[in-house]
Amino acid sequence: MFEEKNWEPEFIKRLEKHYDELKWLYAELYHNDQQAFSYFCDMLYEYYSQRSTALKQWDQMREEVPEWYKGNEMLGMLMYTNCFAGTLQGVKSHLDYLQECGLNYVHLMPLLESPAGRSDGGYAVANFRKVQPALGTMEDLAELGDECHKRGMCVCLDFVMNHTSEDHEWAKRARAGEKEYQDRYFFYDDWTIPSEFEKTVPQVFPQTAPGNFSWCEEAGKVVMTTFYPYQWDLNYANPVVFNDMTADMLNLCNHGVDIIRLDATPYIWKELGTDCRNLPQVHTLVRLMRMAAEVVCPGTLLLGEVVMEPSKVVPYFGTIEKPECHMLYNVTTMASTWHTVATHDVRLLRHQMEAVFALPHDYTFLNYLRCHDDIGWGLDYNFLKQFGMEEVAHKKYLNDYLTGKGYNSDARGELYNDDPRLGDARLCGTTASLCGIEAAEYENDEYKLDRAIRLDIMLHAFLFTQSGIPVLYSGDEIGQKNDYTYHEDPLKWDDSRYLHRGDLNWDEVALRNDLSTREGRIFNALRVLEIVRAKYEVFDNEADTWIVEPYNDHILGIGRYYKGQKLIALFNFSKEDEIAWINESEDYHDIITGESREAKAVALPAYDFVWLMTDFNKPLELSKADAAPVTAEKPSEPEAAAEEKAAGTKAKKTAAKKPAAKKPAAKKPAARKTKAQKEAEAAEAAADAPAEAEEKKPAAKKRAPRKTKAQKEAEAAAAAEAEAPAEKKTSVLKTKE
Ligand code: GLC
Repeated sequence: MFEEKNWEPEFIKRLEKHYDELKWLYAELYHNDQQAFSYFCDMLYEYYSQRSTALKQWDQMREEVPEWYKGNEMLGMLMYTNCFAGTLQGVKSHLDYLQECGLNYVHLMPLLESPAGRSDGGYAVANFRKVQPALGTMEDLAELGDECHKRGMCVCLDFVMNHTSEDHEWAKRARAGEKEYQDRYFFYDDWTIPSEFEKTVPQVFPQTAPGNFSWCEEAGKVVMTTFYPYQWDLNYANPVVFNDMTADMLNLCNHGVDIIRLDATPYIWKELGTDCRNLPQVHTLVRLMRMAAEVVCPGTLLLGEVVMEPSKVVPYFGTIEKPECHMLYNVTTMASTWHTVATHDVRLLRHQMEAVFALPHDYTFLNYLRCHDDIGWGLDYNFLKQFGMEEVAHKKYLNDYLTGKGYNSDARGELYNDDPRLGDARLCGTTASLCGIEAAEYENDEYKLDRAIRLDIMLHAFLFTQSGIPVLYSGDEIGQKNDYTYHEDPLKWDDSRYLHRGDLNWDEVALRNDLSTREGRIFNALRVLEIVRAKYEVFDNEADTWIVEPYNDHILGIGRYYKGQKLIALFNFSKEDEIAWINESEDYHDIITGESREAKAVALPAYDFVWLMTDFNKPLELSKADAAPVTAEKPSEPEAAAEEKAAGTKAKKTAAKKPAAKKPAAKKPAARKTKAQKEAEAAEAAADAPAEAEEKKPAAKKRAPRKTKAQKEAEAAAAAEAEAPAEKKTSVLKTKE
């Protein structure tokens, strides 16, 4: 079909796979503009041919293992480059720490050029091809990506596609009056049409940036600015915008970015008379971008930022035949979790989990407790109504509780975009401060601190119990508190999201191995949870999940079952000790402490949780050694790591030489194996090892070797720690009663 093009066969093969659909959707959206479509295809080839051999190898490896990102060993962290380590080179120099945290997925918040004081935390991009000079260069980004890949980690970056900064080249030319560039945005001669829009379009920042339009003095026109006035909405009805923005996205992929976070996805198509959210054309655009990525860089994942009610979120997965995003944020679960912290009543969360459990296992959610943004109270108010909770009054209750105004509350949050007319304020604060750690430390109250730390850990345990990819917010691994310095900063004071965007406190990080500190207690507890999660297949995305009824509205009960392993997870959201009135007949073990424990009338201290598991395949094999917590000490230069590094290099070299089908997918860092591969390997391992030796091996080692270096180190440490007395082992997670 493309004989005259002189394109490489691999590219043609990939393009042909999608060509009909691409052409059809493109023609529909852009009124059969053949010239624009042909430009689009040529552009795809341009980025395909620019892609480095190393990245093409990754593409190939991931294409072979399309589920590479879906394993229970995946763990992410979200961070601002400057807050974490100053610069991209700084991040690179701290990769050991990130691996020590057990991560294999690093999300760097926006780092492209953005004007100081008018940046919306980097979400107002002036140049999509240039890193903010204070953070480094595009070469630094590529270098960091490369180093991450070598360590089996992948890199996620925002692609802020809904708007550009008013300092973007297009915006400058539009301001100077060039019609061609004004057509890339939404410009109006007067307020007539904007006023019509305002009748149906809600506001994103009602307090800090009211309205959806701004007056552009130089152009003498009105321009659409859904977010801040310096963020000009792009007009995707113009194919030039779509073509050039897609090129900018592919350029980031070619700099080693593995996961593209499509910022503000629902907003990218506007139409008068609508709310300009989630319009059908948005799905067409996302589908087109998915196909573009599959043609040029199939190792890339699209993560949709869809902060909407569940019924609006799920369609962004698309269908099995026509997928859109690979992953979506589990925003409703996040908000419902904080509602539960404030109400100590799990009924809404249980209802939300039931909704999530009913979805196909193929859907991969990105689960999180906190991120760089505020917590918006997008809850199911229809459900809450039956308990007498009305939207406005309830939001006020939640905000009062989480800002510490509520009765008996130790939370320390701040409001965000308080709209007094709607009673619609959102909320800011770090996990630790919202859990009461800040207040307890301020009051020097040991009892409160224990309880607050327990809540913090319990919330993470709940996070890790969910199917999908857990993503930590940088600083949460050590329980970092709010940063109030933004109040004094003239460039930040009016945006309370900076409350939880403080610099990572490396002095506090240094305390992570000291179990007498808050930092050490949280850091180690999270490591244990992560290791246990990665170790047992019951945490796999494929597991069946259900609600366990504890006949106690303070306790959330979740069941998981996969390949003979059954988990009963219980979370006590009450400040009091509670009992989960369950009655499960099998023999269970607490997989954190290794102790056997009945799953009947389970007593849970305030804010505590328990992971009880039974293994129908090998019930007698579970032992304390299987689940011992890690020590706090950082292991010395790990042999396993060196081995793995060598294996990685070897695998890569082999990949370059051998035909794709023969490549050892199993050795690929951060790549997930197919079920068939896993089963074949397990069978092979079982056949190889004498029965006795097999019994002694920790379960994780028997399964596919998909661990990161740090996980392996920590596991080795855990195995060593297994020899220690049980009392010491439990102390990592269980705070003093
Ligand atoms: C996304 C970001 C948020 C930003 C907005 C505008 O929602 O998460 O921080 O303000 O987009 O780009």
